[in-house]
Amino acid sequence: MARYFIGIDVSTTASKALAIDESGQVIAVKSYSHELSTPRPLWSEQDPENWWGAASGALRDLLKEISPDDVAAVGLTGQMHGLTSLDADGKPLRPAILWNDQRSVAQCAQITELVGAQKLYKLIGSILLPGFTAPKILWLKQNEPEIFSQIAHVLLPKDYIRFRLTGAYAADVADGSGFGVMDIAKRTWSDELIAAYDFPKAWLPELCESQDVSAYVNQAGAAATGLRVGTPVVGGAGDQPAGGVGSGIVERDQVSLSVGTSGVAYAVSAGYAPEPDGRLHTFCGPIPGTWFHMGVMLSAAGGLRWMHDEFAPNLSYDDLNTMVESVPRGSLGLLFAPYLTGERNPHPDPLARGAFVGFTLRHGLAHMARAVMEGVAFGMRDQLELLRSQGVYPTEAVISGGATRSAVWRQMFTDIMGLPLYTINTTEGAAFGAAILAAVGAGAYPDVPSACKAMIRRVDTTYPDPVGVAEYERLYPTFKGVYPALKTTFAQLAAFES
Ligand code: XUL
Repeated sequence: MARYFIGIDVSTTASKALAIDESGQVIAVKSYSHELSTPRPLWSEQDPENWWGAASGALRDLLKEISPDDVAAVGLTGQMHGLTSLDADGKPLRPAILWNDQRSVAQCAQITELVGAQKLYKLIGSILLPGFTAPKILWLKQNEPEIFSQIAHVLLPKDYIRFRLTGAYAADVADGSGFGVMDIAKRTWSDELIAAYDFPKAWLPELCESQDVSAYVNQAGAAATGLRVGTPVVGGAGDQPAGGVGSGIVERDQVSLSVGTSGVAYAVSAGYAPEPDGRLHTFCGPIPGTWFHMGVMLSAAGGLRWMHDEFAPNLSYDDLNTMVESVPRGSLGLLFAPYLTGERNPHPDPLARGAFVGFTLRHGLAHMARAVMEGVAFGMRDQLELLRSQGVYPTEAVISGGATRSAVWRQMFTDIMGLPLYTINTTEGAAFGAAILAAVGAGAYPDVPSACKAMIRRVDTTYPDPVGVAEYERLYPTFKGVYPALKTTFAQLAAFES
């Protein structure tokens, strides 16, 4: 009998269901997309029913290709931090408020003031950001009291899917960390922080470890998806920690750089050692007894897409790459600050903006495109430096996402990081990681590191060019100076944005 493990990824753009076998071979992948709504500036919402429709549809399609009797366990992953507020019957009270929603700036300031910044950072492993879940609960209390008064449960996006599959209100500690109300060192909810936010503890889901079985598929979940009643569902993890597992990042000093729309540098930390000023996220890891550091830049490959769509829509990306290859390193003195959608790390500033600095009459489209690629890579170098400041000392890193498709851009990342960068045999990231967690939960492997060892293989490596490394080392301090020099200007310009 075959033995398969399913990973379900509820991302911002789609819900995907993927099945792998014990060797890590992907058997089938199905997905349906979601809609996103921005009813007001700074707001970002999705209908939890859409997630369920997409995830259950993807599972039904998947289970036409594999037998439900062969599914040993399911793992969940998805966009982190989103607030799904439910009534006592588990019905969504309003659209979910997502990770990229910025409405709760005032509530973050209020809690930070009440608890004390340093104490708060130490408890939650980061500065408190409007993207996080708990400040959104406070926003509902202050702005939609009629909804707030009906809340009985709050769940993260992927955990709403768990609820529909199993009836359980549960979250894993890696995703739960993104609420901003956990005592991350103790891997539990913090009673002190719950008191500061002032909502009932009973609203919060039960916490479990990522690889542990959290619940079993019930009748309703089985009827909607085709899964077998009693199929175990493991805790899973948020998209970043699950992506870390899916990239084989399970030991100290291993680093993953994922360069998609946003850019994330991810590393395991053996003990709980948050960055003292909260400039990184340090959250519970998807492996029991571990934590992870993560630096997030909000606009990474998204910056190149913007450049292409706005300035060169008629060129292919291949054309753009060829043009960029003809421009020397440093883009003839043109620098790009990549903060097109504000920034998280290391400059937590929703008003940070993109900027080209250093234009002369010699510059054209090719220089701008190269400067954008270099600026994004320098932004990722900032994330790497934050990891190093926490004692993570990589000798190489795995790279994934859109940037790996451009040889010239990948070499820039390699030279700007000064590290060999390798790719791996799967590009399924978080969904693959969730399936690995399911495999461990089902007992196919004793632990996550041995599962990763068996399932993940390197594909190819790019090596630093010593000349490129030296030239970019010379430019990096100048890049680092751009944000501090323009911070006030960005804030002043915000007044002209609407
Ligand atoms: C992580 C984060 C994003 C979301 C959406 O902190 O906000 O990665 O999980 O992908």
